[in-house]
Amino acid sequence: MSSSRAGFNDTQLDFHTYTTFKGVPGMEIYKNKGIKDIITEFPKIGDILEEYDIGCVPCTVGICQLKDILDIHKMAPEKELELMTRIEAVIYPEREIQSAEPVDSALSVDSPHVFSAPMQRLVDEHVTVKRWLALIPTVVDKIDLSTDKGVRVIVDGIDLIRSYADRLHHGKEEDVLFTYFDDSEKIFQVIYEDHRIARNHVKEMLTALEKKDVLALSKHLTAYGLLLAEHIKKEDEILFPWLDRKLTAEQVVELSEKFDLEDKQIGVDPEKYDLYLSRLEGRFKN
Ligand SMILES: [Fe+2]
Ligand SMILES: [Fe+2]
Repeated sequence: MSSSRAGFNDTQLDFHTYTTFKGVPGMEIYKNKGIKDIITEFPKIGDILEEYDIGCVPCTVGICQLKDILDIHKMAPEKELELMTRIEAVIYPEREIQSAEPVDSALSVDSPHVFSAPMQRLVDEHVTVKRWLALIPTVVDKIDLSTDKGVRVIVDGIDLIRSYADRLHHGKEEDVLFTYFDDSEKIFQVIYEDHRIARNHVKEMLTALEKKDVLALSKHLTAYGLLLAEHIKKEDEILFPWLDRKLTAEQVVELSEKFDLEDKQIGVDPEKYDLYLSRLEGRFKN
């Protein structure tokens, strides 16, 4: 990474070049700026972030600042510096910064995040919820409220959402995991809002079921599916790795114990939902 600073000389230095962020001059003033605003001002930065598998452009959360991006998407230091240098070159084209030499991928492989046991438990629960989300389009396509069997599929699906996805899973998130952090931060508010909207869709589904309103039922089931797919992606790829890195070893042990206790108190049987999903998957395969 020696050549990337070659575009500078002492006479070009101004105030901003003295205030460095992550070792890159001039970036201090951008570190607290919203990444969406930066991309709006400099669209090329969105393309660069994509190259590093940082999906800020399609991200619907939109609350991260530049410093959060580096904090959340933990990268090897060489790669982080390379990224910041490329961003700097877009923001300050007058500096004629030479392109950063691509980091030798063998030296800078970002090790994928290995979740702690309690966080992995939440990620595994997402896998079950995603099986249901994958079935929703077909369920919607085949809704038949004129038969007991057709009604049963919907009733059991809504039960999975309320009991497994909400009480068992969102319950652990809201009542246990999030209590370890300052949940007034915007990212938590986004997550809480998703949970609230999801619960509202369930309420509407139950009303639609009672009225045998297939159109409304289809609408809220579909909206729930799309919302939860995005929600799980936010948690799996952004929130959970980030939170997991902040937990101490003692907190990880404590979290596992609290999750056990919470699951026991809630008393939901995961096998029941696994069986429901397996049956439905088998039926729709044919
Ligand atoms: Fe959640
Ligand atoms: Fe979740």
